[in-house]
Amino acid sequence: MSSAQSASASLDQPNPIAAQYPDLVSGTLNGTTMIVPIALELARQLIPGGYAILEQSFRSLLPSFPAGMYPMMVSAKHDHDIQLPAYNLSIPDFTRAAFEFPFLDLSGDGHTPYRLQDTVLMTASNQGAISGAAGYGIKVYPADLDPPNDGYRSDGNGGNYFSATSVEQVDGVSKFLTVASTPCAREPPYPIEFIKNITNQVVFANSSVCDNYQLLFNTSLTAPPFEPQPVTGTVTGLLEPFTTPQTWTGVFGWNYATAFLEPIAPQACPKASS
Ligand SMILES: *[C@@H]1O[C@H](CO)[C@@H](O)[C@H](O)[C@H]1NC(C)=O
Ligand SMILES: *[C@@H]1O[C@H](CO)[C@@H](O)[C@H](O)[C@H]1NC(C)=O
Ligand SMILES: *[C@@H]1O[C@H](CO)[C@@H](O)[C@H](O)[C@H]1NC(C)=O
Ligand SMILES: *[C@@H]1O[C@H](CO)[C@@H](O)[C@H](O)[C@H]1NC(C)=O
Ligand SMILES: *[C@@H]1O[C@H](CO)[C@@H](O)[C@H](O)[C@H]1NC(C)=O
Repeated sequence: MSSAQSASASLDQPNPIAAQYPDLVSGTLNGTTMIVPIALELARQLIPGGYAILEQSFRSLLPSFPAGMYPMMVSAKHDHDIQLPAYNLSIPDFTRAAFEFPFLDLSGDGHTPYRLQDTVLMTASNQGAISGAAGYGIKVYPADLDPPNDGYRSDGNGGNYFSATSVEQVDGVSKFLTVASTPCAREPPYPIEFIKNITNQVVFANSSVCDNYQLLFNTSLTAPPFEPQPVTGTVTGLLEPFTTPQTWTGVFGWNYATAFLEPIAPQACPKASS
């Protein structure tokens, strides 16, 4: 595996919480979350594993979300200044992009939402991050990124742009994901509290290993002059669970940065009770 891309300096602010949480992996996470409404029926077909969708959970958070639809997430995130002070470890920056499926009833309790993220495009040069993701059962496509080492870049026209493209082709085609966004003048249909909820659901790729990955929205990374910015734009992609290229225009989301915390190792997922 090789990629022409080399790491460049990132514009991200340093990890503000490493000293406070020495026994956990921490870092700066900066990028975009877009919400793509898709038919619930389609979501049920796309989501591997047949997990039930906790529709009441997302309706309680988004009362006016269109009937019969499900909020799929598109994430394009840059991990920066990753540290594990207890082991005197730091990990090079990397970027990942994925389609993610929140509000799944992994535990079978009928109300605790979990989020599925089982396929990602990830910075090809960061072998450590790629093996780390594989340890969670995630399928990783090593990728080239634009921008190479940030969550997004200016498009020169008042908006932001991101793309990830697999280094290798699969069955003659590249896997890819792009996000083009412009600032949204009004409050978007998905408040930042909603983003906070979905990004803090325990994430999993398969039913045996879970990642209690937490985003902290209360650090300097999420405060002026770095307030979350509501955006609207276009997402395109060819990545699992989709088997053909997709384009969604006029979707809404946020450009934002947070601090993150992650356990050192994968945790066992709760067993479905049924
Ligand atoms: C997030 O990334 C953007 C684009 O690189 C940058 O302009 C911004 O300063 C970053 N925010 C933080 C808090 O690092
Ligand atoms: C931590 O790592 C740095 C860089 O590798 C090294 O210079 C330093 O001595 C290490 N500190 C401890 C306490 O091991
Ligand atoms: C999930 O992924 C982990 C890590 O690759 C693997 O050890 C485990 O067997 C997988 N479990 C299932 C149910 O596929
Ligand atoms: C997200 O919201 C749902 C519905 O209110 C709630 O059950 C869940 O605990 C929240 N999850 C997080 C991580 O905030
Ligand atoms: C920030 O949020 C985290 C997680 O929600 C919480 O554990 C921590 O105490 C908060 N820190 C401050 C300074 O409020």
